[in-house]
Amino acid sequence: MCGIFGVITNQDNISLGNVVLEGIKRLEYRGYDSCGVVSLSNSKLYIKKDSGKIEEIQKRIDLAEIPNNSKLALAHTRWATHGKPTRINSHPHSDCSNKIAVVHNGIIENFIELRKALSERGHIFKSDTDTEVIPHLIEIKMKEGLDFKESVVETLKLLTGAYALAVCHVDYPDSIIVARKESPLVIGIIEGKTTYCASDIPAFLPLTRKCYIMDDDELAILKAGEVEFINLKTNEKIEKELKTIDWSIDAAEKGGYEHFMLKEIYEEPTAMKRTMKISKDLLRIFANILWSAENIYITAAGTSFYASLAGKFIISRFLGKYIQAIECSEFQTQLFNSLKNESVIIAVSQSGETIDTIEAIRWAKSKRNVKILTITNVVGSSLTRYSDHVIVTQAGPEIGVAATKTYNTQVLTLALIAIEIAKLRKIELESEIEKYEKALEETPQIIENFLKNNVDSIKDVVNTLEKSVNFFILARGISIATAKEGGLKLKEVACRFIEGYSAAHAKHGPISLVREGFPIIFIAPPDETYQRLIGNVMEFKARGGKIISLVVENDKYISDLSNISIRIPQPGNKYYNIFSPITFTPALQLLAYYAALLHGLDPDKPLNLSKTVTVH
Ligand code: M6R
Repeated sequence: MCGIFGVITNQDNISLGNVVLEGIKRLEYRGYDSCGVVSLSNSKLYIKKDSGKIEEIQKRIDLAEIPNNSKLALAHTRWATHGKPTRINSHPHSDCSNKIAVVHNGIIENFIELRKALSERGHIFKSDTDTEVIPHLIEIKMKEGLDFKESVVETLKLLTGAYALAVCHVDYPDSIIVARKESPLVIGIIEGKTTYCASDIPAFLPLTRKCYIMDDDELAILKAGEVEFINLKTNEKIEKELKTIDWSIDAAEKGGYEHFMLKEIYEEPTAMKRTMKISKDLLRIFANILWSAENIYITAAGTSFYASLAGKFIISRFLGKYIQAIECSEFQTQLFNSLKNESVIIAVSQSGETIDTIEAIRWAKSKRNVKILTITNVVGSSLTRYSDHVIVTQAGPEIGVAATKTYNTQVLTLALIAIEIAKLRKIELESEIEKYEKALEETPQIIENFLKNNVDSIKDVVNTLEKSVNFFILARGISIATAKEGGLKLKEVACRFIEGYSAAHAKHGPISLVREGFPIIFIAPPDETYQRLIGNVMEFKARGGKIISLVVENDKYISDLSNISIRIPQPGNKYYNIFSPITFTPALQLLAYYAALLHGLDPDKPLNLSKTVTVH
């Protein structure tokens, strides 16, 4: 939800203020309600913080201006949960003596009782946040005679909930203490010189590629260029693997595009080509498990859920078994007393940190003997810890809050599993399966061609829709997943109430909204639903609807019935149609992007949103 960043160095030639400011800017996708920095110098904390986006705050106060002799700084960018997005609720938070400062991502669930107990002992709170109890608890432990590390360890024992936190203390200017439970935390290092902590790797990627990924219930003491890890359950030191990250820095930054969202849409073909290289052995493991399972569920949130709807459709076709898709937040209630032993659950999550997805999986594992197959974009993310097998999609870092390239790599991964299932089951002639495989392999090229040649037609549609505040995206069959994802993108970044809906079902109510000029986008690949979709187009046209269609290049009928069409450069046959959520969705992503620009909105920072939702 929030982003935390920290740095400690022994180097004199580093502008610590700039390092910390740039680091926290790279985490702004995690929340942008407020931002704050603390540095430490001459036994004093220097805290600067305010509400708003970093760029706005910078105009008022220079967050990078910190004392010259400071060798340590922490920063935070907030997505408000407890307490309004105000200056006073911004992190860092400090104790009564102003000696301890904390930045925190997560939620301290028992903060009300802790706060009450602390208040009774005379502690004064400045904010409404859950986080503020932490520095006060550490303060008490230190007053009881424990050292800095012991005080943090003892404080953590009192907390329930989730945290990634970083703490500094004026009397310990050579250390930052960090700890993790259910919220992501990574450590970057330039050995002997500088150490960083962050919620995500891109925050320090331009500075170092060497990193450690922290696990739950771990604490680390960061010193300049060194780090010591402790397992909080055993209180013992642990050795962790130092990883080298091979993402290009460019991949983590905007690389010439006006927005991350646009850059990430244009990265789709490359991200997909990388994802195509996922180990066949791993795909076969997933395929075999699904083949022998009786009850299969797929669960996710938001865009990952719509990718799951598309994926379950493709897999069910080749597997010959129904897969039930359940939104992760509803998983427990839906399967309350019906989850069976030996069920297989596919969990899909870009970040691997969405709390509702993690909780669905944890609940299922606590109730029954189930198998968890996870598809995520982040190595070592929390979800992977609860999984029997993990496929990491190869989208690379996605910074834009709107999921774009990660949607396509998720559907592609599920489609690759489906192909392996088809090979196992030999449900179609081998030559047929090869044709599906070839069609899937061509999807990155189809998207590349589309993105090269069709931006103008997208902009035409955006201009046509300029005055429309709400409309429908309608579809049948597998394209309902595409329609829903398109509706989500338009709501999210263009702030328009656009509903992705079943074209057939729309007759049972929503059609009553249609008046002269009411726009309806039809998703119309020439699959088995096409003929019936013609009928639906006619029904909406007859009532004055303005028809916009997404069709394949050589489409005849629905494009003829439409006021305007966007053409996807792909052959119209069954081998390609089943993968249409992959090739058609980028058009809707671009549509949402340009609609956001038309309405003066920042597509990378949609209102009220955070890239990763780590609260229920
Ligand atoms: O990281 P996850 O895939 O688990 O995230 C799930 C949703 O929060 C996410 O897909 C969200 O809907 C996107 N911002 C939509 O663009």
